[in-house]
Amino acid sequence: MKNQHDTVVILDFGAINSQAAAKVIRTLNVYCEVLPFSANAERIAALAPKAIVLQRGPACGTATVGREPAADPTVHGVPVLDLIDKACDTATLRPFLLEQCGLKQDWTTESFIEEAIREIRATVGDRKVLLAMSGGVDSSVCAVLAHRAVGAQLACVFVDHGLMRKDEPQEVCSVFRDRFGIALRHVEAEARFLGKLTGVTDPEKKRKVIGEEFIRVFEEEARAIGEPDFLVQGTIYPDIIESGGDGGKPVKAHHNVGGLPKHIDFKGLVEPLKYLFKDEVRQVALALGIPRSIAMRQPFPGPGLGVRCIGEMTKEKLDILREADAIFRAAVVAAGLEEQANQYFAVLTGNRSVGVTDDARTYVYTVALRAVKTSDFMTARFVKLPMDLLETVSERITASVPQINRVVYDITSKPPSTIEWE
Ligand code: XMP
Repeated sequence: MKNQHDTVVILDFGAINSQAAAKVIRTLNVYCEVLPFSANAERIAALAPKAIVLQRGPACGTATVGREPAADPTVHGVPVLDLIDKACDTATLRPFLLEQCGLKQDWTTESFIEEAIREIRATVGDRKVLLAMSGGVDSSVCAVLAHRAVGAQLACVFVDHGLMRKDEPQEVCSVFRDRFGIALRHVEAEARFLGKLTGVTDPEKKRKVIGEEFIRVFEEEARAIGEPDFLVQGTIYPDIIESGGDGGKPVKAHHNVGGLPKHIDFKGLVEPLKYLFKDEVRQVALALGIPRSIAMRQPFPGPGLGVRCIGEMTKEKLDILREADAIFRAAVVAAGLEEQANQYFAVLTGNRSVGVTDDARTYVYTVALRAVKTSDFMTARFVKLPMDLLETVSERITASVPQINRVVYDITSKPPSTIEWE
């Protein structure tokens, strides 16, 4: 995207939410990038900014005590706005960016799509590209963009590890094959993953097994389609900002499950979303015609239900969890409460307890429901879902899943808990 739009550079001085100014500026359809305050002059100049915004938090604001900021400061003729002591909102930024600096408002979803397709085409040429489809919004958008850019040169592999939610694999396959005409390869590897996971109960071991097996399957698939030249990755902008920007740093693997395949030499990575925030990715998804169920999908961890099924995983336990989870998620959506939580899901606890159904004793599983609100996933608060909703969900789950006789609601925040149970 660089230099195709009037650009604002935000210098991040360690503000508490270093991405806030960028998000506000982008809502004005103005393109901006965040650089660390230590970025040197060449790195800033390479973006040819028309305006510079200093994003400073309380922690570093003391540096200006006793100094009156200059009126209308500039650096090498580029106007600078210091956000210290100013609200980071459109009311502050609009007059500076649009009236004072005259920036063009040409950063739109449509312009992004056009430019991303052009860039992928220019990078890939007539070579082959490989993409790991997870069914999440990032890889879905990457797949559609790459397919529009290079068509059949794209090989799209969906490794189905058997740890997906209810009906998810079928939805992914039908959307991308039928709606978009992408030759998605559905690798049914459930038996293979569950085989490797037999007897594994330690959470870290489980993650490791799932991650390693994923890479192995993916490498086999890559070899089968004949050594691809490029790998498409759904890296998004917060990944880049949080790792200090992409200026000259080695490429960091952000893959959901286990990092880059180790035994394939790619000529390069294609990362079409690396300047987008998550909300922007969702807007692009909708503009590309990706269904809302995928475009607005809540984050789902790479190891899938593996981190939500406590203890040893079996197909039976995963099926029980899938049913309970689907009932809970459907009820939250039906109540119009999905915006209240960033993640909401069920966990199959390893606990079994005594119950009674139709006058007969049962000794079956306890399921836990969890819903959290978070802005950065580093801390999170549990959501106070209405008791009526929880009651309905509990009744539905126990009525339709005979292997569950107890439903509990997780009322812990992060910290001290984590969002996932394992
Ligand atoms: P925790 O449980 O650490 O989760 O509070 C924070 C966020 O990260 C997601 N998560 C993962 N995502 N691979 C992923 O791609 C993982 O191994 C993994 N573990 C946790 C979790 O869903 C939440 O959004």
